[in-house]
Amino acid sequence: MNCMPDQKIYIFDTTLRDGEQVPGCKLNTKEKIELALALEDLGVDIIEAGFPISSPGDFQSVEEISKVIRNATICALSRSVQKDIEVAGEALKKAKRGRIHTGIGTSDFHIKGKFNSNREDILARAIQCVKWARNYTDDVEFYAEDAGRTDNEYLARVIEAVIAAGATTVNIPDTTGYCLPSQYGEKIAYLVNNVSNIDKAVISCHCHNDLGLATANSIAGVINGARQIECTINGLGERAGNTSLEEVVMILKQHHTLGYTTSIKAQQLNPLSRLVSDTMRMPVQPNKAIVGSNAFSHSSGIHQDGFLKDAQTYEIINPDEVGAEGSKIVLTARSGRSALAHRFHKLGFQYTRNDIDVLYAQFLNVADGKKEVNDEDLQALANEYQAVA
Ligand code: KIV
Ligand code: ZN
Repeated sequence: MNCMPDQKIYIFDTTLRDGEQVPGCKLNTKEKIELALALEDLGVDIIEAGFPISSPGDFQSVEEISKVIRNATICALSRSVQKDIEVAGEALKKAKRGRIHTGIGTSDFHIKGKFNSNREDILARAIQCVKWARNYTDDVEFYAEDAGRTDNEYLARVIEAVIAAGATTVNIPDTTGYCLPSQYGEKIAYLVNNVSNIDKAVISCHCHNDLGLATANSIAGVINGARQIECTINGLGERAGNTSLEEVVMILKQHHTLGYTTSIKAQQLNPLSRLVSDTMRMPVQPNKAIVGSNAFSHSSGIHQDGFLKDAQTYEIINPDEVGAEGSKIVLTARSGRSALAHRFHKLGFQYTRNDIDVLYAQFLNVADGKKEVNDEDLQALANEYQAVA
C-alpha cells in the first residue's frame, strides 16, 4: 500500500494578466478586485494580478489587489528591465505576500528574432533581472519565455544560474503552445535531472493552447516533477488561450491515484466561470469541459437510456461537485423513448409503455423540425393525445 501523502500542486491563476490580454477582455480596477477576491475564495495559491509597468491603470489594480488579498500570494509581471521590476516592486508594497515574475525569452527565435542577441548575453540578463527583483522580495519567479522551443541544454544552464541568483520558482512556458505532452514532460524531467540546484526552486508549467494541448502538457509537466500550474478560468489567454484552471484541477481530482492535491474548492468552479465570462464579456463555448453549458447534457437516445439507469454510465463527474446546475436530458430527434417517458413523468404524466409508443411517433415529427423539444411542445402533445383518447 502506498502511504505517501499527496503532493500539493500550487495553482497560479493568471486570469487577470494573461487572461486579460485577450482582445475585448480588458478589466478596470474594480472588476479586477472583484475577480481577485473570488479567486482567493476559490482557493488559488497565487494570483497574477497584472503587469504594473504596462499602464497606470494596471499599476493601480495590482496595488489595490495587494491591499485586499490576505491569503493568496500576489504576483506582478515584469520584463527583464530594471524599471519594470522597480515598478512591480512598488505596486506590490502593500501585499502580505508579494511575488515578482520576471524573465526573458530563451529560445533562439527570441534571442535572435526579438533581441538580436546571443545566448551568453541573454544568460547574463536573466541572472541580472532576478538579482534586481530580489531587492524587493524574496519570492521571485523567473520565466524562460518560449522554453517550449528552447534547447534543453541551454535552458538547464539558464535555470541553474537564475536559481543560484535567487529565483525561488522557475517557470517553463510553452509560450507558443508548440510542444507535445511527451516533449513537454521530457523537458521538465531533463531539468529535474540536469539542474544541480533544482531542489531549491518550484518548477512551474505555463502552457498555451495553440494546438489544444495546454492542459495535457501541464499534466505531463506535473507528472515529471513540476509543482505549480499557471492557468486561467475558462482557459482564457493570448491567442488560443492558456491551460484551463477547471480542467487541471478536476483531472488531478479525478485521477487522485496519481497522488496530487490542490487547494481549489471545486464547487465554486462553475459560479466563478460564469462570473469571469460575464465580467469579461467572453462567452464560454458550450462544449467546454467542466464549465460549458453542455458539459452535463445528454442528448442521444443511447446515452440518455444509460444515464437514466445509472448516471455513472455517461458521467465521470457529479455536476454538484463542480457547482454546475445539474445533468440535463435534452430532447432532440436523436432522443429515445426512455428520455421522453422520463420527461413526461417529470411533467406529471403517468404514461404506459403503449402510450409512450404512440406519443414517441408524434414526438419525432415535432423533433425533426426543431433543434430541441421543450416542455411546451410536450404539453401540446399530451393535450392532443388526451383529446383523441
Ligand atoms: O506565455 C508566456 O511565456 C508568458 C510569460 C510572460 C510568462 O505569458
Ligand atoms: Zn503566457
